[in-house]
Amino acid sequence: MEAMETPWWRGGIIYQVYPRSFLDSNGDGIGDLKGVAARLDYLKDLGATAVWLSPIYPSPMADFGYDISDHCDIDPVFGTMADFDDLLGRVHAAGMKLILDFVPNHTSDRHPWFLESRSSRDNPKRDWYMWHDARPGGDSSGPPNPPNNWLAQFGGSAWEWDEVTGQYYYHAFLREQPDLNWRNPEVRKAMLDTMRFWLDRGVDGFRVDAMSHMIKDANLRDNPLNPDYHPRQSDYDRQLPVHSADQPEVHDVVRMMRKVLDGYPERMMVGEVYLPINRMMVYYGTDEDRGVHLPFNFQLIHLPWDAGQIAAAVAQYEGALPGHGWPNWVLGNHDQPRVASRVGAEQARVAAMLLLTLRGTPTLYYGDELGMRDVAIPFGEQRDPQGINMPDRGLSRDPARTPMPWDSSEKRGFTTGTPWLRLDRYHPEINAGSQRNDDHSLFALYRRLIELRGRSAALSRGNYLSMAAPSPLLAYMREAKDERFLVVLNLSHRPASFPMPDGLCGKVEVSVLPEREGEEVAGVMDLEGDEGLVIALAPQAPSPNVGETGTLKTSLAEAS
Ligand code: NOJ
Repeated sequence: MEAMETPWWRGGIIYQVYPRSFLDSNGDGIGDLKGVAARLDYLKDLGATAVWLSPIYPSPMADFGYDISDHCDIDPVFGTMADFDDLLGRVHAAGMKLILDFVPNHTSDRHPWFLESRSSRDNPKRDWYMWHDARPGGDSSGPPNPPNNWLAQFGGSAWEWDEVTGQYYYHAFLREQPDLNWRNPEVRKAMLDTMRFWLDRGVDGFRVDAMSHMIKDANLRDNPLNPDYHPRQSDYDRQLPVHSADQPEVHDVVRMMRKVLDGYPERMMVGEVYLPINRMMVYYGTDEDRGVHLPFNFQLIHLPWDAGQIAAAVAQYEGALPGHGWPNWVLGNHDQPRVASRVGAEQARVAAMLLLTLRGTPTLYYGDELGMRDVAIPFGEQRDPQGINMPDRGLSRDPARTPMPWDSSEKRGFTTGTPWLRLDRYHPEINAGSQRNDDHSLFALYRRLIELRGRSAALSRGNYLSMAAPSPLLAYMREAKDERFLVVLNLSHRPASFPMPDGLCGKVEVSVLPEREGEEVAGVMDLEGDEGLVIALAPQAPSPNVGETGTLKTSLAEAS
């Protein structure tokens, strides 16, 4: 059973809601806060313990809410502040937590701060953003040379020429998303006050957007070219962003944010950092000077779906965690292709078992528990600026942002109006209503795994022990005191056998095939293609020949 002192964000399950696409309560075709409130029973039934809302603040929606024009209000398309307070109250009454998206790196170009900043060179807020002179040289026919070669994530130069004041401003994403200058103390204060505004209202934490972008090289050095660039990649990947992101001073900012959170009981932040493991780990801070509670670990999104590579990556991640660091795992989010489309519908079940049995906090992306797939969006209906700006690369994020299917009706119970984005027309069976009542559904598998995790100390906070397994199997144990689970996952469509190490035996607790649950296992265990098993090991079984992955570290982490 869970120890009382385990913080909620370690023991829980975070569920990401993309509010535009969750449930529309007023028929305008766009999901809203009342819609989220109306479906808390669903999240509770699934077993989610925290809800992360993608941005709900006033926004011109150039980047669907990640371009904020007022950090302390609610966009009318999502509702009102009263709707927000009502939702927060309901989330808490249901025993869950609410995490808001916090977008510190940039604002909308319509934010009053930016309007002031761009109004003149001597405006008091001029230095709140990154304004720079052009680089000398070039011809006089077009805008002058940008200050350096940095590229924007959504295509083109990261510098936008401002004719009126004769300088460039920097934007890591769209030109409608100017970057704040976090080296300016007034910006720091204003943004940390924004965090306090929501914490005072009662939110339980933040998902911090684009965390590694907040500080840039003070000398604006050019980024080097990426020698491994492939033309199918985003233009942004032509360079290695060594000077435009992940600068050492960013950790000072992260620590400031942490101190704000630590001023309130039981608050947390999870940082969006797409970085190699060694650099991502730095965001945890040190034992004495803590950073982010969880830097998102996106490995399961990017790794090839291969047992050996996943086992190695888990080992590397576990081994690299600092003593106080708690792991976390993610299969998808609103920026990435859906897991069911990446690994296929059958393997999505195995992926669910992996996500929910690894050591660390899982974050679920709405609809992945139903097996939602990427939906083909005809070019004329595309909404995502990343896809529209680079149309030939398959980079649109729209396919993974389509409306949540609540039932099998034409509009899937999402709206009575016209959905803002085309929904999945061809798979009416992928819907919450029918899957909630079907023991064989993916939803039911998620629910069983979450329920087991919730009542098991071994799964929710126990050690992780890698085990040797013949390809294409992935095997590991989770253990806490006298409770041990063996997890064996078949990452292929074909049957495979797992030789249980000497003396190990147990009972199938959860299987991708519910018929197997309760079955006794010992000796050689046969798995169907696309099958995964969570086996409760008999208490007296002798220790198997396990790998050393993370054992010492995880024990230490649990002790701290
Ligand atoms: C990361 C967010 O997840 C993404 O949706 C957004 O476009 C960029 N940051 C810019 O805020």
